[in-house]
Amino acid sequence: MTFVDALSEPIRVAITDIEIRGMRASDIETVAKIQRESFSKIEMWSPQSYLTELSNASAAYRVAVHNEKVVGFGGIWTVMDEVHITILGVALSHRGNRIGDLLLSELLIASWEMGATRATLEVRETNDAAQGLYRKYGFIHVAIRKAYYSDNGENADILWINDMLDPAWREQFDKNRAALGR
Ligand SMILES: CC(C)(COP(=O)(O)OP(=O)(O)OC[C@H]1O[C@@H](n2cnc3c(N)ncnc32)[C@H](O)[C@@H]1OP(=O)(O)O)[C@@H](O)C(=O)NCCC(=O)NCCS
Repeated sequence: MTFVDALSEPIRVAITDIEIRGMRASDIETVAKIQRESFSKIEMWSPQSYLTELSNASAAYRVAVHNEKVVGFGGIWTVMDEVHITILGVALSHRGNRIGDLLLSELLIASWEMGATRATLEVRETNDAAQGLYRKYGFIHVAIRKAYYSDNGENADILWINDMLDPAWREQFDKNRAALGR
């Protein structure tokens, strides 16, 4: 293995060593860095947008922390009984460790606490990793927004969880959480 290979090697972490907490203003610089390696320019939020969102009572933002370092983040907006997963990203170096899994489950829990029973999001149709994660949490494809992404004209899939109070959905959620040791 060369030095360059060693640098690009993904970092393996135990999910039990990941802490999820609320995003703070002091996290935004690291969040912006993870965002740059996770999204195209048209999907990125400015640091000011994050700062504004941190005081939005209808929103919640979480970060995943490993060894005191922020390695992932995600956010939601709630409107009545609906929650929109607005953003979710894991540092390139830390992907494949179930951090996205844990963040998404924590965002859903936060959304229940805010009164949501249905969940939705948009995802690029070719984003296999995100598609896999969302389907694992019971998101179902309901519609397509044609050429939604202006950078490459890609379609967005619109996914929904119709009822987070459904016992069958909840059972699967609990299994996912148990697999995360939570
Ligand atoms: C999507 C993303 C958040 C997943 O985070 P992650 O921590 O690497 O994913 P996890 O290790 O938690 O994997 C959870 C599930 O996602 C799916 N998944 C993750 N990586 C995958 C891949 N490379 N290919 C297919 N499915 C994948 C699997 O269903 C996996 O569950 P499993 O391990 O039981 O099979 C991460 O890839 C990312 O930040 N991507 C760039 C930003 C992005 O696309 N965000 C979503 C925008 S809608």
